[in-house]
Formats: sequence, C-alpha cells, structure tokens
Amino acid sequence: MAKQTLAFTCSACGASHKKWAGRCDTCGEWNSIQEEAPLAAGPKGKTIGAAKGRKIELSDLTTKDAPLPRSNCGIEELDRVLGGGLVPASAILVGGDPGIGKSTLLLQATAKFALTGKKAIYVSGEEAASQIRMRAQRLGLTKAPVQLASETNLRDILTTLEAERPDLVVIDSIQTMWVDHIDSAPGSVSQVRAVAHELTTFAKKRGVAVILVGHVTKDGQIAGPRVVEHMVDTVLYFEGERGHQFRILRAVKNRFGPADEIGVFQMTGSGLEEVTNPSALFLSDREKPAPGSVVFAGIEGTRPLLVEIQALVAQSALANARRTVVGWDSGRLSMILAVLESRAGVSFAGMDVYLNVAGGMRISEPAADLAVAAALISARLDMSLPGDLVIFGEISLSGGLRPISQAEARLKEAKKLGFSGAFAPSRMKLASTSGMTVKKVNDVATFITDCFGDIEA
Ligand code: TYD
Ligand code: MG
Repeated sequence: MAKQTLAFTCSACGASHKKWAGRCDTCGEWNSIQEEAPLAAGPKGKTIGAAKGRKIELSDLTTKDAPLPRSNCGIEELDRVLGGGLVPASAILVGGDPGIGKSTLLLQATAKFALTGKKAIYVSGEEAASQIRMRAQRLGLTKAPVQLASETNLRDILTTLEAERPDLVVIDSIQTMWVDHIDSAPGSVSQVRAVAHELTTFAKKRGVAVILVGHVTKDGQIAGPRVVEHMVDTVLYFEGERGHQFRILRAVKNRFGPADEIGVFQMTGSGLEEVTNPSALFLSDREKPAPGSVVFAGIEGTRPLLVEIQALVAQSALANARRTVVGWDSGRLSMILAVLESRAGVSFAGMDVYLNVAGGMRISEPAADLAVAAALISARLDMSLPGDLVIFGEISLSGGLRPISQAEARLKEAKKLGFSGAFAPSRMKLASTSGMTVKKVNDVATFITDCFGDIEA
C-alpha cells in the first residue's frame, strides 16, 4: 500500500522535520511544528531523461538596456527605502507587527501612486471594502482612483489582475490568502509559500510591482515562512514602539538598492506623515543634560541620525543582577560591560543595568559602542556629560577604539542640530571643515579620564 508521506514544518522558521516534535531543533521554538499536506508531487523520473530541450540564448554583461524605469509612489521616505522608487516586475514584502500601520502606509502609497495616473489595485483579505473606504476618508484620500477588492481566493485575484493589468498591486496580507489546490489553512507554511510563489511569478511575467504585506511573530520573524523572504526582491520591515508615534521603515533586503536604508514616519490622527528631519524629532523630547544620557551620532543607510542613549545603573536586590536593553543588542551590552570592567576598571557587579534608545529607535551599528559606554559610566558615576556633546566609535575587546565610517556626515549633522563637541576614535582621518571641536581618543580608559576625570569605581 502506498503510504502518503506527510511533511512537518515549523511555522516559525520554515524548517521541515520527518516527524512531529514539541520543539523545533532548528530555531528552538516550542509548539510550532505543524503537519502539512505535502507540496504537489514533483516529476516522477530520477533524471530529466534524454529528451532535448530548446537551446537558450546567452548574452554578455555589456548590455545596452536602459536603466529600469522606476516610478515614484509619491511618499519620499518610502521611495528612498525602495532605492529610488518602485521597480516594475518586482515583488516587495512589507513585514511588521499587527497594528503598526502597514495597511495605513500602503493605502497612502497606493493612493498617491494612483494619483500620478498609473493603475493601482488594493486587495485586502482582512478588511471589507467599506472599512478601507472609511480609512481612506480619515486619511483624506477618497479622490484617489484606487481600485479596491476584498478577497482571499488567489485564483480569483489572479484572474482579475490578468484582466485589469495594473501597474501596482497591494496584497494585504499574505497570511489571509489561499490557493485552492493546497489543503491546509490560510497562513500555514505551504499556503503562504504557494501564494508568494504565484504572486512573484505573476509580477515577473506581467511587469507589475506587487507589494505583499506579512505579519510578524512576537520574535520578529515574518510569521511562518522566512522562505518568502528568499522569493521576493525586496524585504521591508515596518517597526516602532507602540507607545510612540514614530514608525521606521527599514530595508533588510533589496535587489535594487541599498539594504540598510530607513524611512521615518510619524503616526498622526490623519495617517502617517513623513519625517524629513528625524534627528530633530528624536532629540526633541530631550531634557537638560542628565546622568546616563548621551547623544550618539549614527548613520542609518545613507543618512546621519542623532539619537539619545539612556542608561540607568542601580544597586541590585537580586542574586543575578538585571540587564535590560531596549533598542540595542543585549549581547553587545554584555560585551561593553565586560570591556569596561577589565580594561577600564569600572565594575558593574551587583548592579542592575538598564539601557534604552530613546524614541523607539533600534540601533545595530557597532559605532554606538562608545556612546553606550559613556552612558553607562555617566549613570554609574551619577555625572552628566555636557549637553552639546556627541559621541561615536566602536570598542574592541582590547579596550581600544576602532575607526568607523562616514564621520564627516555624522559631525555635519551634529553641527546642524546645534552640537559643538564630539568624541571620536583617534585612528581616523577627519577634515577640519565640520566646525566641531573633535576630541580624539585612543582607548576606553583614556576616554573615561578625558570625559569624567580620574575616577575610582
Ligand atoms: P494599521 O495600518 O491597520 O496596522 P496594520 O495594517 O499594520 O495591522 O494601523 C492601525 C493603527 O494605526 C491603529 O492602532 C490606529 C492607528 N491609526 C492612527 O493613529 N491614525 C490613522 O489615521 C490611522 C488610519 C490609523
Ligand atoms: Mg492591516
């Protein structure tokens, strides 16, 4: 008797397993392995056989093609994150927590795009057309010639798209769509994979830009399939803290542009507004200089961005002192604490350490090391740093400071926002055109002496 082989797939990381288990070996997630109907059987034979195919045409790299004709969607921050506008025949995945504003952003983008005279279709599997219209009213977009549909059956959607031939399609969200030849529920790994595959194929074949919305699980992966990330050309994450009005659109993969670009938005009562000067916004709530507060001059993508780093160090009542980080990497915090302890003699043993990047921003640059160290020591010593000072530099395990990129741009931005002094690693060439007083330091210990004087910690 032919036994049907079932596949077991982890809904968190997409790994496949031979049998069911309580915990996925690959990503360590509990209770995430689901039984899946196997994908349609592949071709029968073991090899492709002797039958001849058609000879394909090969070409060289010196092509005379015009550059891809990008079209702007009218939201400048979004266009920049995309690498300069939408590329036709591309598939874009926009991921983010539920309620962060994905539908709002994409409805605004679709409307602006449609107002440029191109054809745009917005398909929602989550909201009824009347709900979308209500949202559009609130956003003041009712005049835009966007065509709406509320549908989840992919076959019907594709048939409609074939007939309509739009320039841009938004599918909100990929987890609600289903294809009828697969037996599992919408949102399961095989459905999401099949839907993404059909839609990317459609995008390539018909020259349409397709934007897929994907929800993210609590640990930040696009629910179910990371496989979708491999299928599309561009992956954008929309993130932000729920209590804050800032939203950040971050490119994590982009076949047509830089992959570390960010766009900053502000959620208001009438939709998302672009923030053209994010540094000013991130620093606008800053109080007067306080212990533990340091301004880091960072770079996000191609743009300098100043953010405030806050630290709090307090005597711990616990056996294992607490280390809490928001907006930065916790492994990196442990590293900085260890370096401060062994190379500069500042001990944090028996103390709770809290670190926060203000405004709901997330920083991944190693250049923030020195600013973090400064915030920690300032909090530990209860001494505040001058309010007109910015800090950047990467710390190595030896306690030395490593040079970082784009120092000029960082200094220029700081100058623009009214800062006058900076600390930077010494092994860096700096043109003296920025108008800032830059103090160069060799290692963390020197930095501490320069900044806080002789300390005994
Ligand atoms: P939404 O775009 O529905 O989120 P997602 O599609 O990512 O799940 O955003 C919903 C949130 O945005 C909701 O909490 C209300 C808020 N919001 C505003 O603050 N102002 C607005 O104009 C709109 C449309 C939504
Ligand atoms: Mg939504």
